[in-house]
Amino acid sequence: MLAGCGRENLSALQPKGEGASMLYDLMVISIVIMIAVFLVVIAIYTYVLVRYRKKKGDQDIIPEQVEGNRNLEILWTVIPILLLLILAVPTVNYTFQLADTSEMEAEDSDNYVVDVTANAFWWNFEYQGQEVTTSQDLYIPTGEKVFVNLSSADVIHSFWVPAIQGKMDNNPGDSNVNTIYLETDDEGVYWGKCAEFCGPSHALMDFRVIAVSPEEFDAWLANMKEGPGEPSTEIAAAGEEIFAQSCASCHAVEAGAVGGVGPNLTSFGDREKIAGILEHNSENLKEWIRNPQEIKPGNNMPQFSEDQISDEDLDALAEYLLGLKVSDE
Ligand code: CUA
Repeated sequence: MLAGCGRENLSALQPKGEGASMLYDLMVISIVIMIAVFLVVIAIYTYVLVRYRKKKGDQDIIPEQVEGNRNLEILWTVIPILLLLILAVPTVNYTFQLADTSEMEAEDSDNYVVDVTANAFWWNFEYQGQEVTTSQDLYIPTGEKVFVNLSSADVIHSFWVPAIQGKMDNNPGDSNVNTIYLETDDEGVYWGKCAEFCGPSHALMDFRVIAVSPEEFDAWLANMKEGPGEPSTEIAAAGEEIFAQSCASCHAVEAGAVGGVGPNLTSFGDREKIAGILEHNSENLKEWIRNPQEIKPGNNMPQFSEDQISDEDLDALAEYLLGLKVSDE
């Protein structure tokens, strides 16, 4: 219970999206039924315990046997069936509603579709038909369904934004792609988690869903296509050169670039977190580049010693990366 405290927009118990609300309803129904059954059983149990306890002078009395009592057997068969039906009807109904992708497949569909590829231990987001790829921060417009096609570049992961939608597995390969939708009316930054154990940094495989108004979303898409522009300081320009030599073989800095071994960094300066988990500042960025394995064990980022990237180069690199912004501010 305590683990759920203190973080906004991370709780399935405070749903802010359509899918999460449906799942919350199911939780409430099952908990109410379970509490009712529990109370009835405890009441009968307590009554029997008090009423029929052995009193002074009682001999070895055998209680009246009810084996083969038809009425009782019908009663305790029918009640559980009814309870399970009350649970099953909305559960099956919601399961089909949540898995419904017909809106996305319709010919006149205008829903955004994002191909989500999970990697150890980060997330790649490719907006279909937009030539926009990003990572870690998934922008969505409020008030409409955004469909996500889930796959994985390595092992099985699971895509979970608890306050907006239930979890769904990312399977390796193209043959087993799961699709689910995200929909929320509330603008905000939502926490995303990997919900399938996938390696040493599974618990650190966080991402964000950033829900903005449709107008803001369109502006963001346009800004992403335009890119972050040239470095604004001399140090950042020096950082760009170091980036080109040491980092560019894995990390793209254009939203149009598809694939890539490492996360696309086009809007890195706008990100909510460093590496998905650290406060977004220059200190942490430099710490991350120096010690990626200590911060997120088992990830694929190479470690750069001071011989390879000096402290001065690191400062320049950090200034360049934090300057990669497409937001209007
Ligand atoms: Cu990816 Cu757990």
